[in-house]
Amino acid sequence: MEYKPILPQHDAFRLTAGFCSIQTLLTMKLKITVLPGDGVGPEVTEQAVRVLQEVADENGHRFDFTEMPIGGVAIKTKGSPLPVDTLDACMDSDAVLLGAVGSPEFDHLTGSMRCEAGLLTLRTALGSFANLRPSICYEAISNCSPLKCEIVAGADILIIRELLGGLYFGEPRGFVKDEFVNEAHNTMRYSEREIERVARVAFETAMKRKRKVTSVDKANVLETSRLWRDVVSEVAKEYPRIKLEHIYVDSCAMRLVTNPKSFDVILTENLFGDILSDEAAVLTGSLGMLASASIGGEIGLYEPVHGSAPDIAGKNIANPIGAIASVAMLLRYTAKLEQEARDVEEAIRLVLEQGYRTKDLGKSDKTVSTSEMGELVIDVLAEVADRRHAYHAV
Ligand code: NAD
Ligand code: IPM
Ligand code: MN
Repeated sequence: MEYKPILPQHDAFRLTAGFCSIQTLLTMKLKITVLPGDGVGPEVTEQAVRVLQEVADENGHRFDFTEMPIGGVAIKTKGSPLPVDTLDACMDSDAVLLGAVGSPEFDHLTGSMRCEAGLLTLRTALGSFANLRPSICYEAISNCSPLKCEIVAGADILIIRELLGGLYFGEPRGFVKDEFVNEAHNTMRYSEREIERVARVAFETAMKRKRKVTSVDKANVLETSRLWRDVVSEVAKEYPRIKLEHIYVDSCAMRLVTNPKSFDVILTENLFGDILSDEAAVLTGSLGMLASASIGGEIGLYEPVHGSAPDIAGKNIANPIGAIASVAMLLRYTAKLEQEARDVEEAIRLVLEQGYRTKDLGKSDKTVSTSEMGELVIDVLAEVADRRHAYHAV
């Protein structure tokens, strides 16, 4: 990643009337590895990349994209869900943009050969221990949720999911089968350090929001959760302006759909966060709306929360907004281009306000395809960015 101070070598600099904003003072070069993956992954990622290219064109940045295989497509072509070349390219980039992995064709595989294992290995290699999953109910589509409008309208939750620990990675794990037993086991394990670092991300992030953290655990049953609660409470002492509450995961699952507006930041462990974030998608109208950023290491990983959606793959009907909103997170967390991130989010909001919907958001007289939704966001983004540049130029 490279910041170049302006000295008008770049033709995109608009030094109109001898005055320009700080935004136009910086041009950024980013190396982005793109992993479209399986199912709807390539369809939604294509739109996300187009949006990023538009951001670059509008603002004079340069984003270099390298596309590599992951998941089922990588198993087919290279014999591994995370080929060495793919991992090397990711490690040599500023950010990774992923579609989705997983395909029924490969569901018979076990252990490290599974599509999902490729993604888990990548997360570990990148050191992405904090997974940020915003669940925002856009006003224009608050009637698209199966929940009552008055319950979801205004909900704005950020789930911070611990991503490199817990049952997903704990050892020992495996199957035991002999003449006496046929069993399988996984281990839930958390260290103080693993909890502390993700808790800090939650408190720091909450400071920029409504200053409330809800820590979710199962401390009435699990030792890992008791440690979780103790460590989170300890970290909270450093953030006296933040209101901390602890709730059990079963109760959280219920409150998410009965009183979602009572949450600001939800902090939780890996598996609980996986489950609760799909549930939180219901507030937004569709799982296809949810974006994510996996941060903590030097290289951020950005991907929609949804999977490869094999039931709708190849039809150009998947919702690309989760993937496009992940691009906004990449701009915010890796590139530190807050204004560009906001432009993308504003473009999504305006397109929804104009009434356009992909099929998953329900019946509409303005139903559009995946590629049309991408096109609409790009058109509006161009207008939003042009308006901003014009404003700063006067
Ligand atoms: P899924 O998220 O793929 O799909 C669940 C439901 O949501 C389906 O009905 C699907 O059509 C719908 N959906 C998902 N994304 C959508 C979008 N963008 N637009 C419209 N509708 C959308 O979950 P699943 O069916 O349980 O899993 C399918 C595969 O995806 C599995 O192999 C699983 O392991 C994998 N998966 C991968 C990721 C990832 O790569 N990050 C995440 C979740 C699941
Ligand atoms: C997600 C997915 C992954 C997870 C799978 C595909 C490994 O469900 O990103 O939510 O469980 O983390
Ligand atoms: Mn999931």
